[in-house]
Amino acid sequence: MPSVLIKTYGCQMNERDSEQVASMFLAGGYTLTQDEKEADVILINTCAVREKAELKALGKMGLLCARPAAKPWVVYGFMGCMCQSRAQSLFRDIERLDVVTGTRHYHNVYAICNRLLRSRLGMNITEPLRRGAHICEVGEVEGFQNEIRDHLPPAGSCTAFVSIMQGCEMRCSYCIVPSTRGAECSRPAQDIIREVRELVDRGVKEVTLLGQIVNRYGKDEPVVDGKSAFVRLLESLHDIDGLERLRFTSPHPIGFREDLVNAYTYLPKLCSHIHFPMQSGSDRILQLMRRPYKNEKYLRLCESMREARPDLAITTDIIVGFPGETDEDYQETKAAVERIQFDNAFIFQYSPRRDTVAAAMNNQICLRVKEERNHDLLETVNRIATARNMALVGTEQSILVEGPSKTNPDRLQGRTSQNKPVIIPGGTAQVGTIAPVRITECTGFTLYGEVTTD
Ligand code: 5AD
Ligand code: SF4
Repeated sequence: MPSVLIKTYGCQMNERDSEQVASMFLAGGYTLTQDEKEADVILINTCAVREKAELKALGKMGLLCARPAAKPWVVYGFMGCMCQSRAQSLFRDIERLDVVTGTRHYHNVYAICNRLLRSRLGMNITEPLRRGAHICEVGEVEGFQNEIRDHLPPAGSCTAFVSIMQGCEMRCSYCIVPSTRGAECSRPAQDIIREVRELVDRGVKEVTLLGQIVNRYGKDEPVVDGKSAFVRLLESLHDIDGLERLRFTSPHPIGFREDLVNAYTYLPKLCSHIHFPMQSGSDRILQLMRRPYKNEKYLRLCESMREARPDLAITTDIIVGFPGETDEDYQETKAAVERIQFDNAFIFQYSPRRDTVAAAMNNQICLRVKEERNHDLLETVNRIATARNMALVGTEQSILVEGPSKTNPDRLQGRTSQNKPVIIPGGTAQVGTIAPVRITECTGFTLYGEVTTD
């Protein structure tokens, strides 16, 4: 049986896309492997959001392709965002590379690689073996939203990602995503509902809906009874028996209206966590970023969600060192972090991306200042996050038990509704169930607890 190794960089959308590709290989009789020496097909799903992520994927593939040929037939492929931005040029970077498939071609990857591998193995020789086959598929695909196929989450998993839309049309000035993920398109609601039902039948308890801007799901559909298509989708999924938890990521302040805030009051399965990118606390920088709203709008949304759901955990993305960011702008970002008291924040140093408006701005910030702001903000974020986690010690939380702890297989690991990881003693709860747990200890970002019997 041939085997495939799939390595994934980047966001949850990429993880889901890799799962879709993996399930197509499994259906075709392949096994999945983590062993680079064993694999007959090696695929890397790439991210282009920051330069570092691209360099990592290029470096990894470069090393893999330079190996002595124990299996000369191995098919090497890049998938995803970096393919969209670099396309054919990747074959110049890595000559041995065979396949480059963009973000609209995940459903084609299996057929392309399988055909190539079989021709190389001599089972169906239709073309002579060449060092690099150089197949590049990065074009648009008509009706793509119907090609976002169901996929199998990893075996035994009680959580799953479900893609509900793809693409982004916001054109933030720093971001490469609109050019790598293309125009916004939403999947039909009935497909999503059917997929979630099937996942629940297979034992999934928690579903995370994915989209570049999830709250713009079905944006061309009419608002019904004051509810957007996205809120109506949440309600339909909430009704599914056996589904215990519902999450979504990531929303955007544009199109985030009262109906979505209210959803936190009457949809108990909607988890008490939202990842809500802020990017900057300065109106001047938000404008340069081409984010068409004032930061006060963002802050008020956070506060009204916390009113609707007092225990809501809020995490965010922040960019430091955007072109022209002054110390005053940076201090406004820091003040916003103090005001919202985020449960965690991913801080990114601005990374110029090709063909974006911000990359051409002439007041780029030097690396030293970016690093200083990154370091300084991280201290604030960590202090607040630790205090918020510490405050949970002594409380009782419902934990979805996901499996053995990654650091100690004798223990179990789960997550609270607020998405905080909790470690409990092994054998005290069943994997795939929701257990009541008293939090006994906290070491910064990890909580420890014990199952309560009453
Ligand atoms: N430089 C740094 N961070 C970026 N992000 C997107 N583009 C860039 C860039 N050019 C960050 C944003 C986004 C997250 C996924 O990546 O904060 O929310
Ligand atoms: Fe990029 Fe902005 Fe779209 Fe998010 S909303 S994917 S940051 S362009």
